[in-house]
Amino acid sequence: MKPSMSAKKSTLHTALFLIACGGIFLFLWNAPPETTVRLPHDADHAKYYPMDKKEAEKECQQCHNPEGVALPKDHPPKYRCLFCHKKMEQAGQ
Ligand code: HEC
Ligand code: HEC
Repeated sequence: MKPSMSAKKSTLHTALFLIACGGIFLFLWNAPPETTVRLPHDADHAKYYPMDKKEAEKECQQCHNPEGVALPKDHPPKYRCLFCHKKMEQAGQ
């Protein structure tokens, strides 16, 4: 094969590679919002909206414990509550 041909081919491969990367990027970018329930915006939780997440998380288990508002039995590892339970968007976050 002539050098010019293989150069063309590798340009094509590079182009396809970049298109594939772009596709994956767009896919992740457009991924549907996570479905995990969000932090409620009610009397119990409103004060956590303006708070620093790590500070807020220290208080969650005052209510969310087995004697109070227990978490579901199959709840995933629960440190960093707000990493999964995002604040609601309409609250400006
Ligand atoms: C003062 C007590 C209290 C504190 C503190 C508290 N919660 Fe709650 N939480 C509740 C109660 C009561 C419910 C159930 C009723 C409701 O949805 O508000 C609840 C429900 C929830 C739910 C489920 C909502 C739904 O739609 O099912 C999530 C998620 C949650 N809390 C996360 C948190 C996180 C994260 C924190 C810490 C930043 C926190 N809570 C702190 C009392 C509390
Ligand atoms: C690794 C992600 C993750 C973390 C961290 C996490 N949760 Fe959850 N939580 C979930 C998932 C997933 C569910 C199952 C229900 C759902 O689909 O949202 C759930 C369910 C709940 C529910 C019940 C909601 C309902 O309506 O059934 C409460 C309350 C809750 N979590 C509170 C908390 C609190 C408080 C913390 C921190 C101590 C916490 N979670 C940390 C992922 C997480």
